[in-house]
Amino acid sequence: MILVTGAGGLVGRPLVDLLVERGAKVRAVSRDPRLTGLPAGVEVVTGDPSRPDTIADALDGVTGVFLNPRALGQSPDPEVVGAAATRLLGLARERGVTRVVAMSALNVDHDVADQPSRLRGEYNKEVEAAAVASGLEWAALRSGYYAANAATSWAPQIRAGDVVRSPYPESSWAPLHERDLAEVAAHALLTGGLAGSGPVLTGPRSLTQQEMIAIIGETIGRPLHFEEVTPEAALQGMTRAGMPETLAAGFVRLQARSYLQHGLVTGEVERILGRPGHTFAEWAAEHAPDFQVQG
Ligand SMILES: NC(=O)c1ccc[n+]([C@@H]2O[C@H](COP(=O)([O-])OP(=O)(O)OC[C@H]3O[C@@H](n4cnc5c(N)ncnc54)[C@H](OP(=O)(O)O)[C@@H]3O)[C@@H](O)[C@H]2O)c1
Repeated sequence: MILVTGAGGLVGRPLVDLLVERGAKVRAVSRDPRLTGLPAGVEVVTGDPSRPDTIADALDGVTGVFLNPRALGQSPDPEVVGAAATRLLGLARERGVTRVVAMSALNVDHDVADQPSRLRGEYNKEVEAAAVASGLEWAALRSGYYAANAATSWAPQIRAGDVVRSPYPESSWAPLHERDLAEVAAHALLTGGLAGSGPVLTGPRSLTQQEMIAIIGETIGRPLHFEEVTPEAALQGMTRAGMPETLAAGFVRLQARSYLQHGLVTGEVERILGRPGHTFAEWAAEHAPDFQVQG
């Protein structure tokens, strides 16, 4: 039995499908009692991983836990989230769990100022540290830029018109398909093949923002134009859309850092899965409706 936190999320959802396809029993944890549409046989547990005692009984009979730092809550205090991860894994060990696979990030060891997602409560470092110290067999999946960020960043603009406004057109990432990340997680949970390691997972190819937008345009059959805006204008746009200013400034700073650099490509997905990672064009084809106006 595998217990998946954040089971309705971007990575958790395809992970549940993959585990079931491979014959595993799955307990899917969500704070949302309306979580539905999971494969037959999956046990849904309503509980909040940021309050681990609410899901203690769901750990009985579990062998492996998938830990998503975002599902551990958005406290402004990293120690609170680290303590929740430690408590959850302590309970897991008491109940007979032997393995934990934690989501983490490529930049987990960078200066905290270069990890803007910490400002919205994603404490990958603390959660990874809790996994390492848990006494369980652990793996930490240190991922780079998710392909899904393209939808978060640009889908509203692309649905509204053919112009995408962003600073740093040449800033580059190697977009990682969320299903590849889920498949690496399934491999780690079911085989223990990544025990004691923190592989850095990236997509198969570095692309500039301009190249990603061109690929989305080809996919949806509309030529899209990239319009470079100043970092200040981008910051204003993000804050107007409701993002806290410190968080927006952090994301703009990250883009500045990747300006004219190639996004890191590690090849770890191919090494672990024995096949190349999915390309951004494949991701875009699967997600084309996100960028199209539904009529
Ligand atoms: N985006 C990137 O490029 C990138 C790159 C590297 C690493 N990461 C890391 O990946 C993790 C996020 O993974 P993901 O994209 O798979 O997460 P996600 O799907 O957005 O969320 C995972 C789960 O977290 C819970 N959740 C979401 N928003 C929440 C909130 N505001 N408060 C409390 N719980 C919330 C939900 O679970 P419930 O159903 O229980 O509510 C959700 O299913 C973070 O640690 C992030 O730093 C992201």
